[in-house]
Amino acid sequence: MFDPYPLVRPLLHRLDPEDAHELTLRALEANLVPGQPRDDDPILATTLLGRALSNPIGLAAGFDKNARVYERMGAQGFGFVEVGGVTPRPQAGNPRPRVFRLPEDRAVINRMGFPNDGADAVVARLQKKGHPGGIGLGINLASNADSADPADDFVHLAQRFARAADYLTLDVSCPNTANGQVFLDSARLADLLARLAAVDWGPGRPAFAAKLAPDVDDALLERLVATLLDARIDAIIVANTTRARPSNLHGTHASEAGGLSGAPLFVPSTLMLSRVRALTGGRVPLIGVGGIASGADAYMKIRAGASAVQLYTGLIYAGTGLITRIKRELAVLLRRDGFASVEAAAAAT
Ligand SMILES: Cc1cc2nc3c(=O)[nH]c(=O)nc-3n(C[C@H](O)[C@H](O)[C@H](O)COP(=O)(O)O)c2cc1C
Repeated sequence: MFDPYPLVRPLLHRLDPEDAHELTLRALEANLVPGQPRDDDPILATTLLGRALSNPIGLAAGFDKNARVYERMGAQGFGFVEVGGVTPRPQAGNPRPRVFRLPEDRAVINRMGFPNDGADAVVARLQKKGHPGGIGLGINLASNADSADPADDFVHLAQRFARAADYLTLDVSCPNTANGQVFLDSARLADLLARLAAVDWGPGRPAFAAKLAPDVDDALLERLVATLLDARIDAIIVANTTRARPSNLHGTHASEAGGLSGAPLFVPSTLMLSRVRALTGGRVPLIGVGGIASGADAYMKIRAGASAVQLYTGLIYAGTGLITRIKRELAVLLRRDGFASVEAAAAAT
């Protein structure tokens, strides 16, 4: 299939990354981006948090913060998409520029700080468009940067979005706002989870995923994972962007403050995934994120214990044709190693 992205990319990458992203969202909204094949190889079919997916490749949070294009990204071939991060009230985020490409490193640094339209606007958009059907839908929740009670923000958001999606992500690992990482403290995380458990969910509690940061030492990671398991978390997402800067970065923007994503995050986030898999022993599904740019990368996350994977930065460098290539390669690798399903490969860890 003809992939126009190699022709489009040089033009997009001459723009400020956020302007390029806005242009991409508008092109998707206007249905100007040709769809990718959706006839997924049956070996890729899996189940995540009770929903059947035709493939385990997901769109990571941050691409569609305001629920503008999630159904279009389904038509680009993703098996599931995560909208957000959404905060209770609209917020402007940090001053621009706040997103930087590091092309030599196939990486991005962002310190956006959750600019978003707020829960009311996002709920309204989700209600208007509905669940996309045929793909899984998650909503990534975050507290407002100026909130005096960030746990209350999460409880409020969880109630607002309880019926809107298949799962809700507690983003407790954003490196870019004052309240972004207050729950990377196991006592505060336990309090947040207890407050969520105390809500009367009526016909059923929504499924919760917690998204962890790669910048925690092993002792803290052990405590956080134990806290999540104690509270019967439904899934763990590993991981968010990193504040760390590998010494071999080449991009001229490498010293910008913010979270690093893309290729340099692949190894640290995959090692962390293996560690979380060892700590959880398969009791809870893991979603592997960080630096995926090929089917081999997705396969390595699955072999490290991920039931599903997500990506964002890879799309900035390769376009949505990457989704189709990842799926094709992943099916080949599963068969090469004798696995009948993604689930079998993840469980063989
Ligand atoms: C511009 C940008 C904005 C992001 N915004 C969010 C966000 O709002 N919430 C969140 O949990 N993660 C956010 N992320 C992190 C991604 O979801 C993902 O965890 C991270 O980028 C690693 O995956 P990747 O290397 O495939 O990009 C953002 C990433 C980027 C590059």
